[in-house]
Amino acid sequence: MAEIETNRLQLRKLTGQDLDDLAQIYQDPEVMRYRLHPEPATREQTQEMLKTILSHWQQYSFGRWAVICKLNQQFIGHCGLEVLAGTSNVEVNYLLDRAYWGKGLATEAAREAVRYGFEELRCDSLVALAKPENLASRRVMEKLEMQYEKDVEYNGMSWVLYTLNRDQWKCSNNASDF
Ligand SMILES: CC(C)(COP(=O)(O)OP(=O)(O)OC[C@H]1O[C@@H](n2cnc3c(N)ncnc32)[C@H](O)[C@@H]1OP(=O)(O)O)[C@@H](O)C(=O)NCCC(=O)NCCS
Repeated sequence: MAEIETNRLQLRKLTGQDLDDLAQIYQDPEVMRYRLHPEPATREQTQEMLKTILSHWQQYSFGRWAVICKLNQQFIGHCGLEVLAGTSNVEVNYLLDRAYWGKGLATEAAREAVRYGFEELRCDSLVALAKPENLASRRVMEKLEMQYEKDVEYNGMSWVLYTLNRDQWKCSNNASDF
């Protein structure tokens, strides 16, 4: 998949070369707080997680993109689409370095993931999961016009599930029949 540009960001496939940058971000407890494994990660743990991300790319030819800030060319996190393990649901996900929070950047990146999911992958619907108390993440989902659907148990934890289907998305984006 070619590189994608938004107003302020470049999005490209994550690679093994991103380990150092990712390890830096994953060692921040605030960033990790609402994740499946809610502790700061060591470099070795980050390497394992990166392996999982890359094997998803191998299996499905899509996955998490590295998010690069165009202004300074910094690696500032990741965003993208992944098949939720054990389901056929495609999930929108996003995570940014704390220094870049609160500027609308996660929404900007995730909007592109949603577009990609519907236009390129031709998904009928997309989902997103967050810990109920992760209000920033829930707000991003709302800004993407995803709808709260229900509380779910996933990997032994409670999450809120948001969904967006292609027709809702087409309607709110005036997308033509592609
Ligand atoms: C969730 C995350 C990606 C949001 O990134 P971001 O770039 O700050 O997001 P945006 O700026 O696009 O939007 C955040 C929205 O949440 C709001 N928000 C932030 N903290 C909030 C809080 N504690 N309570 C309510 N709303 C909050 C912001 O005001 C903003 O809404 P607004 O545009 O209406 O003002 C970022 O906090 C992050 O990386 N967190 C750690 C990883 C994570 O939790 N990822 C999601 C996994 S489900």
